[in-house]
Amino acid sequence: MDFCVPMLRQVSAAARVCGSMMHLPFADEAFDVVISGLALGHAANIRTWMTEVARVLKAGGTLLYSDFHPEAARAGLPRSFKDRNDRTWTVPHREYDVAFQKEAASAAGLVVEVVREVRVGFELQELFPNSDAFYRRWNGLPIVLVVRARK
Ligand SMILES: C[S@@+](CC[C@H](N)C(=O)[O-])C[C@H]1O[C@@H](n2cnc3c(N)ncnc32)[C@H](O)[C@@H]1O
Repeated sequence: MDFCVPMLRQVSAAARVCGSMMHLPFADEAFDVVISGLALGHAANIRTWMTEVARVLKAGGTLLYSDFHPEAARAGLPRSFKDRNDRTWTVPHREYDVAFQKEAASAAGLVVEVVREVRVGFELQELFPNSDAFYRRWNGLPIVLVVRARK
């Protein structure tokens, strides 16, 4: 699900839902697993998001999410991408500290079981155009956060 129709058109999943992650259009305890990719930093209120996720998870269900790491945002690494016309766009990102994320999860009734950080030059080594400069400048910086929590 996503609130952006062009983003939904990029995927071929059988069921695509247009809606806000802050008010999930699903019944209580509808899912065994909730997966969220690179979206938490767009949440206006992390507590509301965690509470919504916990609401739609069954007891014992799993939340798995990734996000742009708050340390990367704090270090000034922009969350940007190029469109097909080679124009660069920078996406606003809210920095929620990892400790604050854990607190919000706990307040929503979720237990954080695993936290993983993807660091530039370590877990992330993929090459792309001009990646030499990127790896030199940001070496060791945690760029992506991955969290698994259980209800
Ligand atoms: C970086 S993209 C990630 C897309 C996809 N989850 C993935 O992993 O490839 C972030 C997505 O979050 C969506 N988004 C931001 N705020 C949202 C909200 N309040 N409700 C639903 N989707 C939202 C944006 O439209 C965008 O598609």
